[in-house]
Amino acid sequence: TVDIRSLNKDLGCFTYDPGFIATAACKSKITYIDGDNGILLYRGYPIEQLAENCEFTEVAYLLMNGELPDATQLRDFNEEISDRAIIHEALRKFFDGFHYDAHPMAMLVGVVGSLSAFYHSDLNIKDPASRIICATRLIGKMPTIAAASYRHSIGRPFVYPRMDLSYCENFLNMMFSRSSQNYIDQEHYIDPNLVKALNLLFILHADHEQNASTSTVRMAGSTGANPYACVAAGIAALWGPAHGGANEAVLNMLAQIGSVENVPKYIAKAKDHDDPFRLMGFGHRVYKNFDPRATIIRKTCYEVLSRTNTSDPLFELALALEEYALKDEYFIEKKLYPNVDFYSGIIYKALHIPVEMFTVMFAIARTAGWISHWLEMMEEPTTPISRPRQLYVGPPRRDYVAINNR
Ligand code: ACO
Repeated sequence: TVDIRSLNKDLGCFTYDPGFIATAACKSKITYIDGDNGILLYRGYPIEQLAENCEFTEVAYLLMNGELPDATQLRDFNEEISDRAIIHEALRKFFDGFHYDAHPMAMLVGVVGSLSAFYHSDLNIKDPASRIICATRLIGKMPTIAAASYRHSIGRPFVYPRMDLSYCENFLNMMFSRSSQNYIDQEHYIDPNLVKALNLLFILHADHEQNASTSTVRMAGSTGANPYACVAAGIAALWGPAHGGANEAVLNMLAQIGSVENVPKYIAKAKDHDDPFRLMGFGHRVYKNFDPRATIIRKTCYEVLSRTNTSDPLFELALALEEYALKDEYFIEKKLYPNVDFYSGIIYKALHIPVEMFTVMFAIARTAGWISHWLEMMEEPTTPISRPRQLYVGPPRRDYVAINNR
């Protein structure tokens, strides 16, 4: 027998739970999900109410601080976020080193990680005030870095952030301004309806308790690592198609399906376990009912498309796909419903955000959640290093064999 106890508090046994299906790794006061009933609360507030009434930075403040800000607190917070939106000129030059066709998520991982090399002098993770500076800096700079990665990919000059614009307006200006002159002129006026839709998507993506990327940020943070580097690790985890990369994968999938007549063929492929095809934007580890965010986004798709006087055949196709899947025994039995990413791409497309930027959009919003979880973890009197156990299934002890005898 082997004594696997390593600490006095060990019970001498451990659970084998690949994917952490039934294992809580922390306590948190930030986000509550009831997956069976399709309920999502940020700090106790229903997502539907926040999405209807808030601006994104208000929700970021709520996630970070636990309470909604009053008018003065929100004004001060917005000012601080705007103040921190500018990035160091040397950091901006990092983009020159990336190949023009690099994926924007690849640039985001690298550049956000490099913040740790630029903003270290005032960083002391033991000091609450310093931690807040780090959090607002990340929330402030993320849209600037994201827009810069897009501008680099299309060979356009960078646009500097503007303090007089809201968080979402500023991002859209940095993305789409025709010049580098740092202003929205009459001609390129940003439609407030589109700003509203972007604000809503950012709120819906802001946090979702212990998803893979947030758990990654917490895990990296549990070692006392630099928080900018921890968030870069979160961005890397978000990129995968099973997580945040699904929004990009959904649009690619809809383009591949092509038309409503092909829906049954692709549903059959998704059900076939020998076929790697999965219905992207369907299914969720926690929601075994409608993802409340998907319901809000579907409704917003109608509004955005009607306000912009456009129709999108991909939206029609997505609706047909959902309708078909929800009547299918396989999807009913496995409780597979559309998740947040199923419809978000349709709105991003209406905002003229290119498909490769979809997961970057998710990352901008989720930064508020990542850093709130990091702040919460750092407030704990002691944070144990995150260190799962494993079930060893390799060979038993054996002796080294010299190379000529193998
Ligand atoms: N299409 C077809 N079948 C599916 C799908 C899907 N999208 N999702 C799950 N299934 C099936 C699985 O094949 C599995 O079948 P089995 O029991 O016969 O083996 C069963 O449903 C359970 O699926 P798991 O992968 O075990 O469920 P898990 O909770 O581990 O995964 C996940 C959840 C990763 C989201 C999965 O549903 C998936 O891959 N969905 C598509 C990708 C996606 O949309 N990701 C975004 C998630 S939301 C977010 O991160 C923002």
